[in-house]
Formats: sequence, C-alpha cells, structure tokens
Amino acid sequence: MKILAVSGSLRAGSYNTQLLRAAADAAPAGVEVEVWQGIGDLPLYDQDLDGLEPPEPVRRLREEWGAADAILFATPEYNGSVPGGLKNAVDWGSRPRLGAPLTNKTVAVVGASPGQFGALWAQADLRKILGVAGARVVGDELPVTRAHEKFDAKRRLRDEELRGRLTLVLETLAVEAAPALAA
Ligand SMILES: Cc1cc2nc3c(=O)[nH]c(=O)nc-3n(C[C@H](O)[C@H](O)[C@H](O)COP(=O)(O)O)c2cc1C
Repeated sequence: MKILAVSGSLRAGSYNTQLLRAAADAAPAGVEVEVWQGIGDLPLYDQDLDGLEPPEPVRRLREEWGAADAILFATPEYNGSVPGGLKNAVDWGSRPRLGAPLTNKTVAVVGASPGQFGALWAQADLRKILGVAGARVVGDELPVTRAHEKFDAKRRLRDEELRGRLTLVLETLAVEAAPALAA
C-alpha cells in the first residue's frame, strides 16, 4: 500500500512537511509513505492550458496522485483557510472530469500551525474542497497546535502521542483504501 503525503507548504522549514515526514516514520507495517513535492512547480489553474497536452508539472501530478493508493494531505492555515498553492493543486487534480486523479481517491487531512487551533479551519475547508473534487475523505481532522514545540532541532517529532495519532490516520487510510482498490 503506497500512500502519498502532500504538504500545502512550500517553505523549507515547514511544520506541515515535518509532520508528513514524521508520519512516514510512524507508518504501520505494509504501508509505505512517500512525501510528494511538486505543488510549487504548478502553473495557476487555467482551463486554456488544460488540453490534451497539459504542462509537465500537471502531467506529473496527475500520474503520481493517480497511481497512489491513498493521499494524506497536511495543510497550513493562511488567513483562515487553505493556502492558494494547495487549492490550485487540488483544482488540477480534479480534472479531467473523467479519470481525474482525485476521483474516488481515499484521502485524509491533517494540519499544523504554531497557534492554538492547529489549522482547524484550513482542514475543514480542505476536506470540503477534496469532497467536492470527488475524493473520499476519511478520518477526522488532526489539529497539531503549537507546532513549533513538537519537533526537536533535527526536525524529529518529540511528541509520542502525536506519533501514535499519525499511525492511526495512516491505518485508517489503509483500511479505507483497501476495499476501494479491490472494487
Ligand atoms: C499569509 C499567512 C497567513 C496566515 N494565516 C494564519 C491563520 O489564519 N491561522 C493560523 O493559525 N496561522 C496563520 N499563519 C501562520 C501559519 O500557521 C504558520 O506560518 C505556519 O508555520 C505555516 O505552516 P508551515 O510551517 O507548514 O509552513 C499565516 C501565515 C501566513 C504566511
């Protein structure tokens, strides 16, 4: 079972990307987590670009998201919602209408912020957007609050309870994706 992990943050020191790396380390047996990068390469969604030969970064997104058994998203919160780059990626992933990589894709959403709410509004919006795009959103939100305190100097997770919750999210994704793959 291969789960792709997509961070909505482009910055090198991103807590959300660190969270996904921690999820990869906490993956249950039989689950391989690959942190996906490519959001920053995408052009802004433009239907005029979305023809028979879309731009290379879009082709790559569609191929790699499409091949994943499930996708785990980690979103920052920008002004109470999903960062524009992540919304843009979801828009590309929701097309073409027939055979879009997000159609029936089993997905889960987590999120981290240095504040008290753990990107909760962004997670709620992302769950809505992914559902509208045709994905199967499973599990609950996982708000990681005070994210700057959750990692050590080597960017490793130092919160054992959170590690356990990440394992549970991946288990839920794997269990939910398995029957969908068999169908
Ligand atoms: C443009 C912008 C808007 C932000 N708005 C919010 C917000 O609405 N709520 C919040 O909790 N944090 C907000 N933040 C702070 C981010 O949560 C913080 O920068 C976080 O570390 C970003 O995630 P990352 O570490 O994965 O890059 C904002 C940051 C930026 C740059």
